[in-house]
Amino acid sequence: MTALLEVERVSIQFGGLKAVENVSFTAEKGQVTSIIGPNGAGKTTLFNAITRNVRIREGSIRLNGREISHLTPLEITGRGIRRTFQNGGLFGQLTAIENILVGLHTEIHSSFLGTLLHGREARAQERAAIARAKELLAEFEIDAPENIPVGQLSGGDQRLIEIARAWCTEAQLLMLDEPAVGLSPPVRSRVLDAIRGIAVNKGVAVLMIEHTMEMVLKGSDKIIVLNGGKLLASGSPAEIREDRTVAEAYLGYV
Ligand SMILES: Nc1ncnc2c1ncn2[C@@H]1O[C@H](COP(=O)(O)OP(=O)(O)O)[C@@H](O)[C@H]1O
Ligand SMILES: [Mg+2]
Repeated sequence: MTALLEVERVSIQFGGLKAVENVSFTAEKGQVTSIIGPNGAGKTTLFNAITRNVRIREGSIRLNGREISHLTPLEITGRGIRRTFQNGGLFGQLTAIENILVGLHTEIHSSFLGTLLHGREARAQERAAIARAKELLAEFEIDAPENIPVGQLSGGDQRLIEIARAWCTEAQLLMLDEPAVGLSPPVRSRVLDAIRGIAVNKGVAVLMIEHTMEMVLKGSDKIIVLNGGKLLASGSPAEIREDRTVAEAYLGYV
């Protein structure tokens, strides 16, 4: 069976810098695939290539067996690929529901003329979107009082709102760039559980960049290790734990 996402022999260059070199891996439905590696390993660049924020120099990126490396970022979204960014992207002054509505807006199709002609329909759509936003908050067990700006919520709740917002339009491939960075261990586990829930219960392929080895070993089906833009190893958590090259180059123990 073809994997949902196939990255094959991808290279990305910035001027003279080879940020990603000849990297191949796949991501499957219903699984969490994690990308780890030290700072500057090329993890975010690889994400940017998949969402077409950067251009690949060589190789192929396929979704459901179809090449997507030539599409525009908007077309990538249209294919059901969603992502969060490394440095967040919530509107701190808006409430949780308002933030999620921003994510849902692509689903609200009423044009300005349509709004004038069919005001009732537009209002019904808005009510449905608000109901969906509330449903998502409940599903992710996010404790967000209705009138509180998200900037005042806990770090864990903010991270979950970001993930819920990215997921809300029912992605096939959900890409999360360091979703647990800066969180305390118990909050990290809570975020990880929510991420696993999306993969396992919804059959979504989750591709996650993460620094914390312990979190990756626990919460992934497959781990891709990058170092200096190159693929150092890939395999199950058990395989990565046993891998001598990874132990030497990345984990700092032998
Ligand atoms: N837009 C860009 N222009 C030039 N160099 C970049 C750009 N984006 C990333 N890089 C460089 O590519 C390398 C990989 O960066 P990045 O993918 O952000 O690493 P990681 O996410 O693994 O920490 C780094 O040396 C970084 O400085
Ligand atoms: Mg990064």
